[in-house]
Amino acid sequence: IKHLLSGADLDAATATEILDTAAEMATVAGREIKKLPALRGRTVVNLFYEDSTRTRISFEAAAKRLSADVINFSAKGSSVTKGESLKDTALTLQAMGADAVVVRHPASGAPHRLANWVDGSVVNAGDGTHEHPTQALLDAYTMRARLGRLAGLSVAVVGDVLHSRVARSNVLLLSTLGAKVTLVGPPTLIPVDIAGALAPGTDVSYDLDSVLPNVDVVMMLRVQRERMNDSYFPSAREYARRYGLDGPRMRRLPEHAIVMHPGPMNRGMEITAEVADSPRSTIVEQVTNGVSVRMAVLYLLLGGNNR
Ligand code: CP
Repeated sequence: IKHLLSGADLDAATATEILDTAAEMATVAGREIKKLPALRGRTVVNLFYEDSTRTRISFEAAAKRLSADVINFSAKGSSVTKGESLKDTALTLQAMGADAVVVRHPASGAPHRLANWVDGSVVNAGDGTHEHPTQALLDAYTMRARLGRLAGLSVAVVGDVLHSRVARSNVLLLSTLGAKVTLVGPPTLIPVDIAGALAPGTDVSYDLDSVLPNVDVVMMLRVQRERMNDSYFPSAREYARRYGLDGPRMRRLPEHAIVMHPGPMNRGMEITAEVADSPRSTIVEQVTNGVSVRMAVLYLLLGGNNR
């Protein structure tokens, strides 16, 4: 593949190749070989129109570990504030020799537009409420590393599904890889037709307590207050009472089940500190795995099959 814009871009074989390559990258990192020469002479541009901690830094670390040159662009402090368009910004970066553009943008679909304008590869690092495919890949990697498989896993994705690009990409990718996803949350935060529209076989539940005893993975989503008006939202206290994962709820999970969160977390709202910091939580591992997975994505787009 040339671009990674959506979880739907990946068939099972390609997704598995990325996860296997990421595992090799992690082994290299484990041997404390800090850098591979694979992308020497290639340039990766991180084009961020929205704030990010994990995604931006891990793409930068991934590109540098593969010996690529990295240009970090953030809209704040650039000529975007003078009104320059995404297209003109992209063409400017291309003129400086970008082989890959990693883009985060508040508008759903922006990476797809970008892919029509630049010659290099485009990687979607999160577009509006639409998709975040490398997050889904690192989540799948983490599940496989902890539980040994993806096919047949039962995964509950819980909370603000309506605004979650993480949920959409996870439903698409996990379904492709044979896991069963149940979307859980208040009716106002789950679009009516989302499950069937994204992937047949995806379930919806409004009752977290009835779902927990039957899952291998519970993935809590951040409540995205910045994308809501108050009509969507009950109240922080009511939300936490019905859909927050606290200690007593965590103990309803099967013994082997893991707790995930893409970050950043609202501690005390969708997840308590007791759960986030418990041995079942993979939240820190997800961040670590994100570097290996993004190394694999950049390697396969720029240095591997595509050359
Ligand atoms: N999970 C995630 O995308 O986090 P950032 O917004 O910090 O990149």
